[in-house]
Amino acid sequence: MLAIIGGTGLTEMPDLEITQRHGVETPLGAASSGVLQGILDGRDVLFLPRHGHPHKLPPHRVNYRANVWALKQAGATRIIGVNAVGGIEPALAPGALVVPDQLIDYTSSRESTYFDGRFKPLQHIDFSWPYDAELRDALLRAGEQAGELLEDGGVYGCTQGPRLETAAEIARMARDGCRLVGMTGMPEASLARELEIPYACLALVVNPAAGVVESEITMAEIEAALESGIERVKKVIRALLG
Ligand code: HPA
Repeated sequence: MLAIIGGTGLTEMPDLEITQRHGVETPLGAASSGVLQGILDGRDVLFLPRHGHPHKLPPHRVNYRANVWALKQAGATRIIGVNAVGGIEPALAPGALVVPDQLIDYTSSRESTYFDGRFKPLQHIDFSWPYDAELRDALLRAGEQAGELLEDGGVYGCTQGPRLETAAEIARMARDGCRLVGMTGMPEASLARELEIPYACLALVVNPAAGVVESEITMAEIEAALESGIERVKKVIRALLG
């Protein structure tokens, strides 16, 4: 069953015909919200708003371990993480949709593994290619079907937040090869890998990253990009289900 982790701007799926509300508690603490199970265009889907509904948890306070566990418990066999991001590459203007193929984790102090020797015995997963190739392909095909141009590939840099970055931090990330910057892609992706659930990211650019253009980043521009962009994200998800 496909699961969607909704990011900022995607805290609900109004067209989802809800059939079951899963509990919020897991052995790792409370998930951001109870997982919603429902039917969208005739297909069973799971939905979890990453920041809760209404949006209440900042990126560094999300219990990623509980969220991914809750989805597994509810029967998820594939996960799409939807993420609002800043565009580091100047060509990635607000509204661009990207399916990254790599990531760099710049976060710190997040509970980031099940294999910590306490909850589960230590294990080192392979994470050379953090996103599932088949699920990425399926997303890219869904974009074509939906008539939405999806950028194929690129490095997602995940920062700790909640503050936005300095221009120098973004310049360094560009030198590292990052095309995108967000705050919520990790440890979600590696936790899914630990539980052997194929995972891919659909990223919506909502602002040029710090220093990419001269103006400061405002919440107003981010909200405007989210409003129009999220409808296109939903179109791609529906095509993926179809
Ligand atoms: N930086 C980090 N995370 C983000 C940004 C950004 O510029 N925009 C949306 N999420």
